[in-house]
Amino acid sequence: MTFKPDVDIPALTNKVILVTGANEGLGKQTVLDLARHHPAKIYLAARSRPKAEAALKEIQSKVEPSCAPIALLDLDLASLDSVARAAAQIKAQESRLDILIANAGVLGANGATKDGYEIHFGVNHLGHALLIRLLLPLLLCTAQREDVAVGETRVVVVGSYAEKFAARAEVVYPFAELERGEAPSVKGVMARYGLSKLANVHYTAQLARHYPEGEFGVRFVALHPGAVRTNLGDMLKTWPRVQSVLRGLVGLFVGMVSVEEGVWGQLWAATWPVGRMGGPGEPRSGGFYHPVGVEGKGTPLAYDEAKAEELWEWTERVLGAYLEGHDET
Ligand SMILES: NC(=O)c1ccc[n+]([C@@H]2O[C@H](COP(=O)([O-])OP(=O)(O)OC[C@H]3O[C@@H](n4cnc5c(N)ncnc54)[C@H](OP(=O)(O)O)[C@@H]3O)[C@@H](O)[C@H]2O)c1
Repeated sequence: MTFKPDVDIPALTNKVILVTGANEGLGKQTVLDLARHHPAKIYLAARSRPKAEAALKEIQSKVEPSCAPIALLDLDLASLDSVARAAAQIKAQESRLDILIANAGVLGANGATKDGYEIHFGVNHLGHALLIRLLLPLLLCTAQREDVAVGETRVVVVGSYAEKFAARAEVVYPFAELERGEAPSVKGVMARYGLSKLANVHYTAQLARHYPEGEFGVRFVALHPGAVRTNLGDMLKTWPRVQSVLRGLVGLFVGMVSVEEGVWGQLWAATWPVGRMGGPGEPRSGGFYHPVGVEGKGTPLAYDEAKAEELWEWTERVLGAYLEGHDET
């Protein structure tokens, strides 16, 4: 199914949008495509200010000057303090947040986050989980506005079909190991990346379960963008046994698409209007989609509600200190 950003993205008038990992790859392209549809503001979140500034310059050279103001947001998902600061900044500056795209991702990094969690799990899942949870009150308020339809406020989480590699783990979520900054029972870098991407899918489904769209108005959608030509995985080149890893990647990257096409899924999930018929149709809250808008292609584990609930409980517990008092604000 194709998606045509120029014609399929509706006018985004008044909308405030935040995209993580937006200095590169899919994130940068997402900001560019959304900016062409005149939202009130887009936050381009990145962990490196110079990279963010370079991306902003490039985007501004490609869009009309009348397009959305784009603001830079410092956000290092490998630091829960950094995530909390970024969320506090948004809450201080904005009275609404319509679309949050949890796009940033790391593949092939070594070691642990600043808080001591295994790096893939810490950045791809936990950092984003905290960001979403801290911004949820603002998203929920936005969804209650008179000019916003039920299901129009969106949280989009960029997962991956690499969730299938999570099945290599001895137990699905070895939380004690992940908390120690390593995961020896999750064998291989692709399995550790895959576990973090499985967590993206599970966590999104749990958000939809704990915050039903009919009651709260926010829609939560996870997706695999396809195999896309970006810099993701460049770090793998520094790993030992690089040949065998690369052989695995050849399989992974069969049918790779351009960045321009790779963003279709997340643009669709973030902006497809409520009630619009035709094309890929509407995303469902809690759904996990392959491009574009194709549901049901995840592994059986991706739809395992008990494991998803286990992840939710653990995440709520480890983020507890950051979440205290935030659900009411
Ligand atoms: N490309 C694919 O084939 C593919 C397939 C399936 C899923 N995905 C998913 O798509 C998403 C976007 O990836 P991409 O392909 O566009 O890769 P990319 O070009 O490497 O972009 C990844 C982005 O994430 C940022 N990031 C990494 N660690 C971060 C941290 N600690 N804090 C904040 N930002 C951080 C990077 O910032 P720096 O530039 O500072 O590193 C970069 O902006 C990821 O979630 C990835 O898992 C991609």
